[in-house]
Amino acid sequence: MATDTASGDNVLRPGGDDFRDVLGHFATGVTIITAVDGDEPVGVAANAFTSVSLDPPLVLFCVARSSTTWPRIERARRFAVNMLGEHQEDLSRLFARKGADRFGQVDWHVGVGGSPVLHDVLAYVDCEFWAEYDGGDHIIVVGRVLDLGVTDRAGPLVFFRGEYVRLTSL
Ligand SMILES: Cc1cc2nc3c(=O)[nH]c(=O)nc-3n(C[C@H](O)[C@H](O)[C@H](O)COP(=O)(O)O)c2cc1C
Repeated sequence: MATDTASGDNVLRPGGDDFRDVLGHFATGVTIITAVDGDEPVGVAANAFTSVSLDPPLVLFCVARSSTTWPRIERARRFAVNMLGEHQEDLSRLFARKGADRFGQVDWHVGVGGSPVLHDVLAYVDCEFWAEYDGGDHIIVVGRVLDLGVTDRAGPLVFFRGEYVRLTSL
């Protein structure tokens, strides 16, 4: 990171480490995107998630083109977004680990929309595919919400500057 001596500001370049560092200052929740491929549940940790539209009810997530789970979610044409609570850091790590038995340590049921809803999550939205867009080395996936729900868990798991944090003020 270079320093602009005139203004004293840090001068950052829009790529690589600087991009990650600056965008990491935007705090997000953490989700597990799930689907059923054939008869097998699949899922992947993702924080690139947001709501899009109220009418119709749309949400989006971004998934890396390198993801091995993405083609299986795409095949299912439907997915659930499971929003993690502050007690679920281990689950986030598990669903980000290649080759792990991701569904071996979590209870779940098939939601109204046909995708796995993980137990004990903060909230979930159950979706069908609406659209996909080019997002560079990622794909932007928009889903139409078919069903949704919340639990009474206290607070969200938050991802900030590459670390897990909790909202202790809640
Ligand atoms: C907190 C957190 C957030 C993540 N967010 C995303 C994301 O939004 N999109 C994405 O493609 N990968 C994201 N990842 C990385 C994937 O979970 C990780 O690369 C995973 O191993 C991909 O597995 P797959 O090859 O089975 O798809 C995130 C990982 C963590 C720990």
